[in-house]
Amino acid sequence: MTAAARLEGIGACVFDAYGTLFDVHSAVGRHRARVGAAADSVSATWRSKQLQYTWLRSLMHRWTPFAEVTADALDFALDEAGIEDDALRRDLLDAYRSLECYPEVVGVLDALRGGGMRTAVLSNGSREMLDAAVASAGVGARLDAVLSVDDVRVYKPHPDVYRLACDRLGVGREAVCFLSSNAWDAAGAATFGFRVVWVNRFGQVRERLPDAPDVEVETLDPLPALVLG
Ligand code: LAC
Repeated sequence: MTAAARLEGIGACVFDAYGTLFDVHSAVGRHRARVGAAADSVSATWRSKQLQYTWLRSLMHRWTPFAEVTADALDFALDEAGIEDDALRRDLLDAYRSLECYPEVVGVLDALRGGGMRTAVLSNGSREMLDAAVASAGVGARLDAVLSVDDVRVYKPHPDVYRLACDRLGVGREAVCFLSSNAWDAAGAATFGFRVVWVNRFGQVRERLPDAPDVEVETLDPLPALVLG
């Protein structure tokens, strides 16, 4: 893994959604006063339980859409914080459909497409959640495809998910530049054979998993220079 390198022969940039394009903590952020003093820990637990449930359900062969996993994880987080408030629960789940996107996302997508690069989202998100988030962030017209695990009924880092991008975009795995802020997702994509850029937004230490990402960046800003010829 290097701090900066050129990636040659890339035919498509494929983005993870939650945490990479969209700020998952903006949902609790929007209702911070109502969640109260536990807001940050509720948000962190919500996200970590959401991810754990995707992995566990995949292992258990008990797939259910991400919208349900997200609601189950929120119920755990609210229960743990001793919060019982149906209206708040509904508003937090609604907020997940219109998360804020990170500030550089629109400009980077425009630069990529201006340079002739294809762009797509590949996410655990339910189709309908993803469509809502993409529309609300105004990035729909900047993407060639929005791909959901709904079509394979298993979650990342299962290789079937990453294969979906190759199948739908008609590109070989070595021609995909995959971007994720989730280090475990970056590892899964590298194991599959994508070229991987880890968007380490929060200065996390590296995972001890097979197959490190090719490049580590702090935001998406360096991406056009990395992949455009
Ligand atoms: C996604 C989760 C992993 O968008 O962030 O797939």
